[in-house]
Amino acid sequence: MAKAKGSMFFCKECGYESAKWMGQCPGCKEWNTFVEEPAIKKGNKIQRVSAQATTLANISMAQEERISTGMEELDRVLGGGIISGSLVLVGGDPGIGKSTLLLQVCRNLSLLQKRVLYISGEESLKQIKLRAMRIGEFNDNLLLLCETNLDTIEKTIKEVSPDVVMIDSIQTMYREEVSSAPGSVSQVRESTNVLMQIAKGMGISIFIVGHVTKEGVVAGPRVLEHMVDTVLYFEGDRHASYRILRGVKNRFGSTNEMGVFEMRESGLCEVKNPSEFMLDGRPEDASGSVVACSMEGTRPMLLEIQALICRTNFGMPRRTANGTDYNRVNLLMAVLEKRVGLSLSDCDAYVNLAGGIKINEPALDLAIVMAIVSSYKNRNLDAKTICFGEVGLSGEVRGVSQAQLRVQEAIKLGFDTCILPQVSLDSLQSKKGIKLIGVGNVKEAIMLI
Ligand code: TYD
Ligand code: MG
Repeated sequence: MAKAKGSMFFCKECGYESAKWMGQCPGCKEWNTFVEEPAIKKGNKIQRVSAQATTLANISMAQEERISTGMEELDRVLGGGIISGSLVLVGGDPGIGKSTLLLQVCRNLSLLQKRVLYISGEESLKQIKLRAMRIGEFNDNLLLLCETNLDTIEKTIKEVSPDVVMIDSIQTMYREEVSSAPGSVSQVRESTNVLMQIAKGMGISIFIVGHVTKEGVVAGPRVLEHMVDTVLYFEGDRHASYRILRGVKNRFGSTNEMGVFEMRESGLCEVKNPSEFMLDGRPEDASGSVVACSMEGTRPMLLEIQALICRTNFGMPRRTANGTDYNRVNLLMAVLEKRVGLSLSDCDAYVNLAGGIKINEPALDLAIVMAIVSSYKNRNLDAKTICFGEVGLSGEVRGVSQAQLRVQEAIKLGFDTCILPQVSLDSLQSKKGIKLIGVGNVKEAIMLI
């Protein structure tokens, strides 16, 4: 490949730089990821003050102050609120509600007398105003700016000195020194670098919106995810109104937390009780429908698992798993075949987590098994029963974490029976308010259907 003068090749995945084009990236071992972009002109090196090594005892442990976003669901995913000087990346499909979420955070913060600057490179001020009018009243603590040049943005931030800055889409931002187009590997990397320096240097929290590629990862080099402190993904079914915010990286908190929102006419609305939301419209006496309990971070969530088993008309049975791991479903069916003796090899199987939610927790195993057997035998499990537990290859039902919290959630939502692993039952502290059935293996469990 002929190389234009003054250009370099960059890996789209990890940002690896090379003078030549290469088929495989030596950095991340991915194939066909090199793109040609004009080289970044390196300016004069700034003289650095040499840093001093220190002991643990000398580090002051003042409690990090967190600013509440005014949305409990978001605060929990962030680990308790916004930390000053942190850089948060919010990724998600187009139209999922990233700009709406950030504008609502802006409104809440401005009502708490924080200075907020919302910078959009995608929409005009009029469009932002239209959205703001749907959300509610705003006050003068929120400033808006339509700009894509990072040098201007940096100047504005220095003038305004806000507490929090929102950058609507890192892919539209550019630096003049880098001659490639906005959205390219080197622009995205350089822009994030500038924002990181602003955040750390001035103690300003910055939220960055990042677009997502077809494969579902933030567009631009992977280094983007390494540079920021927190990476949140906003996801949801386009056809359903609920949206889920998940943390995939968090330097200031746990990453398996999840926040649930509902998209309404007037913006995003928090869903405080996702179990109720997920079980809405559940058929009460249908075979193949079982309620399970999954833990999302510190919060239990009930959801409905559906299975449909029918005879196959072809030699090769069809199997699908919607919202959970396909291989896991195959494995559980093999366990049923071998350990219980169900002849599933000539049956089509469709497993679905109702509501379009995606969860891969092993604690759902028992419920998946129960749903499959219930549909196979065409007999339903009592509608007021929930089950959870992990299933092993020899058909044993293994204990899961946080059994007490799961049982409490079931009681709260009016369930009267809970099928759970025997080991978890033995470790429960309080056993009141619900009938608990401990099972040691799959055979015992399916006798209850
Ligand atoms: P948006 O925040 O523009 O998505 P993103 O920035 O992630 O691309 O969300 C746009 C969608 O949300 C659009 O389809 C309209 C819908 N919406 C509502 O349903 N209610 C509202 O109050 C707002 C502001 C948007
Ligand atoms: Mg947007």
